[in-house]
Amino acid sequence: MRFAPVKERSRMLRRCTRPAVPPRGGAEAAARCRHASASPVAPARARAALACVLVLAAALATAGCQPSVSVTGALVDRRLPPPQQVEIQLVTDEDNRPITPDAIKGKQVFDANCAVCHGTTGRGNGPMAPTLVAPQKDVLTVFMALFGIQIHEPPLPSHPADFHNRDLENVISPAEMYQTVTEGRPHTAMPAFGPQASFGANKAQTLTNADRWDANAYELSLRATPQSLSAAKALYNQQCAVCHGVNGDGKGPRGPEMAARVWSWSRGEGPGIFTDINYIVQRNPSELMNAILDGHGLMPGYRGKLSPEQLNGLVDYIYTFFYKHPPIR
Ligand code: HEC
Ligand code: HEC
Repeated sequence: MRFAPVKERSRMLRRCTRPAVPPRGGAEAAARCRHASASPVAPARARAALACVLVLAAALATAGCQPSVSVTGALVDRRLPPPQQVEIQLVTDEDNRPITPDAIKGKQVFDANCAVCHGTTGRGNGPMAPTLVAPQKDVLTVFMALFGIQIHEPPLPSHPADFHNRDLENVISPAEMYQTVTEGRPHTAMPAFGPQASFGANKAQTLTNADRWDANAYELSLRATPQSLSAAKALYNQQCAVCHGVNGDGKGPRGPEMAARVWSWSRGEGPGIFTDINYIVQRNPSELMNAILDGHGLMPGYRGKLSPEQLNGLVDYIYTFFYKHPPIR
């Protein structure tokens, strides 16, 4: 309580403003103080003093609420926004050790936990799909439910995502998918499979980080077919591997040339290094497609040179560099 000392002082003021005789100490002084507080002049002064202290405290409190208070008078550059704190979920197990997602194991996780809603082929048509509703959970509904009062209409149906719907999936990065599986999606039937559900989401049983990443990798592989992947592999090896390397690690014949000019490339990470798992999982398919179409720096643009199927295939194939999967022929 930061005002306690102030109050304390004002009480002292009230008690001791005008001692009739300067106190000499001990019980006698205390008695004089008490006596002085009985004088009619004291309350008015005390109130004035209290008002002063309150105004000062209010001024200090409002000063504390300003975006910045320059004590030294130094100039503060306000043109730039403050740097943003972005927390990136790394691909690790519970002990923060790096892991490699595995689509083969992911199929088992998916069949056991997800297919009931999303369907075995990920089309969003599992047996439970027609019965799903969106929980209407917000601060108000939760509060009113304490008194047994339901303030909403019957909840709306909630449709499981179809992982073959590229219009939808193109704007979702693997990291965002993982976050959805971990925390659930608030106000939809998509439950959380991590330790804690985000507010407004349902909770299913808890899966390990590795299980959730494996299921994620399997979902990514669902939209491709073995045929589309092998066509993409051939195209990639012919057009892209010269720089990006057959393994997506940036170590193609022209890799050293890129490394000499692109700093992150020389470190084996960042744009164009598809084995940099913590980078590539943050990139969504439409970002990768635009990079391929437009080019950037040393990366040539391929607009008008690739069919939509080839483009989708290349993106699906690029993701396969970060997870384990059945061999692509
Ligand atoms: C109880 C039914 C149910 C279960 C079980 C379920 N989901 Fe979902 N899931 C949904 C629904 C409904 C949505 C659509 C949410 C929305 O409307 O945004 C969804 C959406 C998602 C999304 C977001 C996709 C996107 O494109 O936005 C991912 C990823 C996902 N689910 C993965 C999983 C995984 C992995 C599992 C198993 C570990 C799983 N789901 C289990 C119902 C379910
Ligand atoms: C001449 C070398 C070269 C060739 C050929 C090449 N790339 Fe690149 N690519 C690069 C470089 C260099 C970058 C990094 C650009 C940058 O600094 O942002 C890059 C970046 C990318 C990115 C962006 C990744 C991101 O996260 O933004 C994708 C996707 C990509 N390349 C795909 C391809 C595909 C697919 C092909 C073949 C069709 C291809 N590249 C051919 C050199 C090349």
